[in-house]
Amino acid sequence: MVLEGPDGGGKSTQVDLLVRRWRSGGATVHQTFEPGGTDLGREIRSLVLHADSEPMAEALLMTAQRVQHVAALEPLLAAGSHVVTDRYLPSSLVYQGLARGLGVDRVLALHDLSGISLEPDVVFVLDPGDRSLRDRPDADRFESAGAEFGQRVRDGYRHLATRFGWQMIDASGSIDEVADQLWGVLADFGGDAVEPRSG
Ligand code: TYD
Repeated sequence: MVLEGPDGGGKSTQVDLLVRRWRSGGATVHQTFEPGGTDLGREIRSLVLHADSEPMAEALLMTAQRVQHVAALEPLLAAGSHVVTDRYLPSSLVYQGLARGLGVDRVLALHDLSGISLEPDVVFVLDPGDRSLRDRPDADRFESAGAEFGQRVRDGYRHLATRFGWQMIDASGSIDEVADQLWGVLADFGGDAVEPRSG
């Protein structure tokens, strides 16, 4: 499954909590993230988050790290592990496709060209409502891009959620409330997958 959302929506905390809860039931759950998740991915992450780049250059780099990431995930999935990733293709569709204006179809075309065929079973989008972006001194390029960009990202997720069937989660509540909500929806989707293993 994929956890998505605008920067500053508490996504990383929720990924940690969800994975911990899932594992405590006995499931094998691999936790990962994009951009990153592999050695090459981490190198690309540092390039993309800190150097100025054209939207298409960004989309190509994000796609490249995804190819590497998926190659690393496939054997784990084949061995029966669940995978929870903090960001995946939806981030490229929203950030490069909409917020940076490349167009969703061009990002999808790149994705098709990459040959990636891994589709998540479910995509959750943590929607922070109108809480604004973190304004931290160590903010990366994306986090510093300003309120207008942040609004485009938030609107982008809402817009594409309908088209692609992403599950919007209201992330305006407390950490525990959001975690419980997420767990409830995951249980609906995952069925037995999130039930504690018996025996
Ligand atoms: P990160 O520090 O991981 O942010 P967060 O904690 O909010 O996930 O930085 C990832 C940034 O990269 C984030 O602003 C979204 C952006 N991004 C894209 O623009 N396209 C992509 O395909 C991916 C995976 C991330």
